[in-house]
Amino acid sequence: MKRLIYLSSAVRLATPDDLAQILAVARRNNRRDGVTGLLLYHDGTFLQVLEGKDEAVDRVFGRIAANPLHRGIQSLPPAQVSERLFANWTMAFARPDTMSGADDLGAKAFEAVKQDLARIESLDKRAAIFVRTFFASFRDLGSLTGA
Ligand SMILES: Cc1cc2nc3c(=O)[nH]c(=O)nc-3n(C[C@H](O)[C@H](O)[C@H](O)COP(=O)(O)O)c2cc1C
Repeated sequence: MKRLIYLSSAVRLATPDDLAQILAVARRNNRRDGVTGLLLYHDGTFLQVLEGKDEAVDRVFGRIAANPLHRGIQSLPPAQVSERLFANWTMAFARPDTMSGADDLGAKAFEAVKQDLARIESLDKRAAIFVRTFFASFRDLGSLTGA
């Protein structure tokens, strides 16, 4: 199994509708393909973690990299892993309440992800550093508890 993490920049600030659409497609496809992970979005920056069978991760990352909604993808070399960090597909951002149907789509607030950080850290230090750096680069998101 492979875990891949990348950062990218939205070509324009994503609207709640843009995010809802990405989330709906990702949840449908990723469930079908056995891909789990996390997508964070704030102020034009995406951070995504993808985990699953090597071929499944390669295929979804190919589709994601080709999406014109974002550019400047910077990924860490993929890691071979034996355990998943995430049980299902999660998307989190600062204000899910601004997204119509966010509850149905299962969008989470950043707070929930911050609470997961200790667990992420114990399973994958590299992934945790990436997520911590993402939060740290946005001062408006507040300080991390237990950092
Ligand atoms: C930041 C970002 C993250 C995305 N994440 C996923 C994902 O996890 N899974 C997925 O299938 N598509 C994801 N997409 C959408 C893909 O780029 C692509 O539009 C989609 O997979 C096409 O699916 P379809 O062929 O079923 O329409 C993402 C797009 C963006 C911009």
